Amino acid sequence: MSHAALVLPQLALGSLLYDAALRGIPVFSVMNHGNDRVSLFPAVEVMVYPFECDAFGHLNEAAFVQLFERARWDALARGPGQDLFRRHGVWPAVRRAVVDYHRPAFPGDVIRVEAEVEKVGRTSVTMRQRASHAADGQLLAELEIVVVLIDREGKPVAMPEAIAAAFGGRPSTRPGETIRHDVGGVTLALDSRGDGPALLLLHGFPLDRTLWAHQVATLSRWRRLAPDLRGAGASDVPSGGYTIPAYADDLVRLLDRLRIERAVVAGLSMGGYVAFEMWRRHRARIVGLILVDTRSEADTAEGRGRRDEMIAAARAGGAAAVAERMLPQLLGRSTQQAQPHLVEQVRGTIERAPVPGLVGALEAMRDRTDSTPLLSTIDVPTLVIVGEEDELTPPAGARAMAAAIPGAALKAIPGAGHLSPLEAPTPVTRVMAEFLEAVPRP
Ligand code: MLT
Repeated sequence: MSHAALVLPQLALGSLLYDAALRGIPVFSVMNHGNDRVSLFPAVEVMVYPFECDAFGHLNEAAFVQLFERARWDALARGPGQDLFRRHGVWPAVRRAVVDYHRPAFPGDVIRVEAEVEKVGRTSVTMRQRASHAADGQLLAELEIVVVLIDREGKPVAMPEAIAAAFGGRPSTRPGETIRHDVGGVTLALDSRGDGPALLLLHGFPLDRTLWAHQVATLSRWRRLAPDLRGAGASDVPSGGYTIPAYADDLVRLLDRLRIERAVVAGLSMGGYVAFEMWRRHRARIVGLILVDTRSEADTAEGRGRRDEMIAAARAGGAAAVAERMLPQLLGRSTQQAQPHLVEQVRGTIERAPVPGLVGALEAMRDRTDSTPLLSTIDVPTLVIVGEEDELTPPAGARAMAAAIPGAALKAIPGAGHLSPLEAPTPVTRVMAEFLEAVPRP
């Protein structure tokens, strides 16, 4: 086996992104830090040309570097297009490429190239490509590359969210494109991205709009709107007025402000309670529902007691006390083991939450109406999503809820807990995208 380490300053990285999955281009499963995820890079097949081969007539390790690059660009062309990086004002410069050569290939051979992302950093991506004979699957060569995103001056730049998300990385939660809208005395912060029919994404408790960062970054063909509810994230924190109907009315006023007549409403947990309330009060505004890790029932007497305890804890110990109590329940056990950075990310989000907003949300949830009688009235396309490891709103409840909604689909997400869009962003985004394809456009 020969082993060549090459430093290739300006080879461009081809990749295939989320859109590929939506267009039915094959994807394959990869293991990533013990967490089984789905890569959005497709396998591509390329043929070996005589001019690529050396004097012996075979494809050597240097030629494999070129072939791997060709495969990346092929993949890119089938997905978001070869101008993806330029669209975002960055260039993917390969700064390190190491080939492990296993077997020869000759002109006319068809080679299958698969890719997986190993690490997504702030400015760089490490990925591995594998080439095998299409005919018999024999491994021919592997390439490990490190790609740095640079600007026109050649300086490394922070990865734009859409590109990070496409690589399967965690998009940054910086409020890059956040705008603020007054909805009648309360100003809501809103992440708004894309064109097309509206998709309103409602976060759960005790979180904010960044829960949906991956979906906001990648659900192309929809106008993604992820607001902070009153009292959460970067929205105003009024001293009162926290009820589930008030949240629902805020959102309808937000749609009015944006001149949006109707939207698909996706709500996670408390966001689901709000989505049900929007259905109760404003159903003409809803063309589809995505109910994620949520339930229709009101709190039991015991549950209301726990809300009061949590309210007392928040008042006495601040947001950190809420984080301490909620964190073990919010994230699935697989996520807690395999994605410790997510535990810290969620802790940070909760600890930044304003206490009056937390208390208000707890009161609102404690006092909410049972929405179970509404389920049989839902006559728009509905998708129920649940993390298989969700302990707060477990899969059995999601199944029952889906069964009570005429025609609703149910998708369980392996390895995810209560915050499935954050814990398993790619599978959740994919099932949402498939569902959205079938929703009549408003
Ligand atoms: C949420 O995620 O919004 C909350 O866990 C919901 C609840 O506590 O009922």
